[in-house]
Formats: sequence, structure tokens, C-alpha cells
Amino acid sequence: MAAPAIPPIRLGLIGTGLAVEKLHWPALRGLADRYAVTAFTDSSAEQRRRFAEYSGTDPALATADRAALLARDDVDAVLISVPIPHLYEVARDALAAGKDVLCEKPAGVDAEQAAAFLALAAGHPDRTFLVGENHFYRDDLRFARALLDGGAIGRLHLMAWRHVVRSVPRAGGFTGTPWRQRPQYRGGVHLDAGVHHIAQIRLLCGDIARVHGAVQAANSTIEAPSDLALTLVFTGGAIGSYTASYLEIPVPPESHDMRLYGTAGVLVLAGSDAERRVTRSSADATTHTTVFRGIDNGYRGELLDFADAVQFGVRPVGSVAQSVANAMVVQRAFDSAEQAAALALDPVPGAGPVPLWRPRGSARLFDGLPGQRISSSASFAA
Ligand SMILES: NC(=O)c1ccc[n+]([C@@H]2O[C@H](COP(=O)([O-])OP(=O)(O)OC[C@H]3O[C@@H](n4cnc5c(N)ncnc54)[C@H](O)[C@@H]3O)[C@@H](O)[C@H]2O)c1
Repeated sequence: MAAPAIPPIRLGLIGTGLAVEKLHWPALRGLADRYAVTAFTDSSAEQRRRFAEYSGTDPALATADRAALLARDDVDAVLISVPIPHLYEVARDALAAGKDVLCEKPAGVDAEQAAAFLALAAGHPDRTFLVGENHFYRDDLRFARALLDGGAIGRLHLMAWRHVVRSVPRAGGFTGTPWRQRPQYRGGVHLDAGVHHIAQIRLLCGDIARVHGAVQAANSTIEAPSDLALTLVFTGGAIGSYTASYLEIPVPPESHDMRLYGTAGVLVLAGSDAERRVTRSSADATTHTTVFRGIDNGYRGELLDFADAVQFGVRPVGSVAQSVANAMVVQRAFDSAEQAAALALDPVPGAGPVPLWRPRGSARLFDGLPGQRISSSASFAA
């Protein structure tokens, strides 16, 4: 006899701005067996109207404010996608109302609020509470992590990554949101976008023991430092450098490759949203490249992990502690820049090495996930 189907999680959306429209709704739409949106709210009536329109959700499910949404019995869990300064208060209210919570990143506007996020999670052990980090679920990154775990490049000893892009306010884009131009959170864009990069670095290189950072403001459209240069020492012994800049002027094409150098090979992570590539080279100068197309940068996996935690008690990868660990690297980088000193990072309770996520019940990496993977080999020997 087939097992009875588990009814979908009745989900309330708090904040229906760009992240929901561009990232979460496309993933939720394909997970109707796991989620049913039963209510949504946004402080802007226009955003509520817009969400109902493009998603086809019944406009009658809109509530005037979050208190009304949180009071509803037909909401089991909430997805919180409000501007960074408001994430904590909304997560706190949702947990107090007895809901399971998937909250957008980052975990805290500063170190003090990061600690408050940890305390909030500790105070609600009976609830599922995640602070989202889609990079933990990205197929190319998980593939690279599995290669590293399997010893594909020997012992990792050096990481190098430079991420330089143009960033000016663009209507309808993330940079167009006024709260990003005058950030009320320490680290500005390096906290907002940077936590994803730190998550990627931690997933692949392990935990970070020490940081030495320098920052500079060189973009008049953002009231925060645009440049961050960071030297990293990992607990596993590797060292690395991460440079990120969000420039006002156009930038000539940049590679954005992340390179991981090991004693027996090199791993290069390249490409963009549309096509990501993982290339492993060996000591004999052969290369093996896997191209990933049609992946969604981890949003589906993140929602699956949250649903598995709520419905099956699975321990989620993107825990609050892991997101705090990401955010604290950025905060310590800014401390380091202010103090002009290399600083140690305290371990975050409950974090530790980022686990490698696999779809529930599968020993493999990609079961049930969308996307195409194409592998090829070559040689760069002279
Ligand atoms: N994981 C990712 O890749 C990713 C990408 C972009 C944004 N984000 C995160 O998502 C969150 C939202 O970012 P965004 O780009 O969608 O911003 P946005 O400004 O486009 O959307 C936020 C929405 O929240 C509404 N809002 C503000 N305060 C509210 C409140 N108290 N209650 C209800 N609604 C409220 C606003 O009206 C707006 O529609 C941020 O925390 C950001 O860090 C994550």
C-alpha cells in the first residue's frame, strides 16, 4: 500500500519584493506538492497586488500586515523576505506566533544582532528556523565540494577569488532598492551579497580561523564601502584571498573565477547564472570540465531542505548558526579593517564545517533536481 501523501506546508509570505519575484516564486511554483501559499503580506499595497498578479495567487489571501498573517491558523510556516534591517523583528514575531521560519539572509545587521539570531534559534528548539543561504544548495558548488572531499586535488592549500562588478542604481533591479543604497547594516553590500560568497568559501575551503581585511569607499551611489580586500587563513591550514568591489564605472570583462589550488590539482569554478563550470586539472595537465545549465542557484534545494526539516525532522544545512558564521566573517573583516590588524574568528556555537546537502533519501547529489550536466575532458599540456 502506498504511503499516505503528506499535505503541503501551508506557507505565508512576509515581504513579496524582488527576492520573491525573481528567486523564491520560480522555485515555489515547481514545488506544489511541498508548499501551498495560504497567505501573503507586504507593507506596500502595490507589491501585494503585483505578487497576486504574476503568481496567480488569490488576492483575497493578502493580509494587511504581518500580525494578521501570523494570527492565521492556516499558516504553518513563513518565508520572510523583507529588507535586511527588518528581518530579525519579523523572524522574532513569527517564532513567537508558533510558525516555522525560513528567513532571508543575512543573520544580523551586525555582530550583536547575529548573536541575537542565535539566541532566538536557541529559544525556539521546537521550531524549524533557517536563515536562507542558497549557495549551500547550488549544484556546481556541491559538485566541487564532493570532488574536494574525494581528494580530487590533493590537499587544498590556496584559494584565490576576485569579484568585481559595476553597481549603480537600476530601476527594477536589486541595486534600485533605496535601502541598499543607504544600508542600515554594517558591511553594506559586503554583508548583503558578501555572505553568499563567504558561504561558498566556507563550503569549499572549510572554516576560517583568521581574517585580515581592508575596505574603501569608492562608489558614490552606495553609502558604504565598495571595496573589500580580505586575506584568509583556514582552520584546515589553507590560505586565501578574496577581493570584492562594486564599482560606479563600467568594468572591463572580468573572469570572476574562483581558483582552488591543491597539492595534486587545481579546481576552477567559473561561469554565471545561465551556465556554471567546474574544471578540475590534474598534475598531468589534463582537465575535466562539468558544465551546469538550467540550475536555479540553489533556491529549490533550500526550499526542499526547509520542507524536509518541517515535515520529516531532517537537520537542515542552512541553519541559523551556519548563516551567523557567514555573517561573522564579514563583521570580523570590518573589525579588522577598522583596527588595521589580523583578527581571529571565534567558532560559532552549533556551526562548524558546512555539511554537504544531498536530496533527502539519496546518496547522490542531483536526484530529483532540475538542470543539465555535461562533462568533457581536455589537456593544457604544451
Ligand atoms: N538569497 C538571495 O539570493 C537573495 C537575493 C536578494 C535578496 N535577498 C534577501 O531578501 C530580502 C528582501 O530583498 P529584496 O531584494 O526582495 O528587497 P525588496 O525591497 O525588493 O523587497 C522587500 C519587500 O518587503 C516589503 N516590506 C518592507 N518591510 C516590511 C515589513 N515590515 N513587513 C512586510 N513587508 C515589508 C517591501 O515593501 C518590499 O516589497 C533581503 O533580506 C535580502 O537580503 C536574498
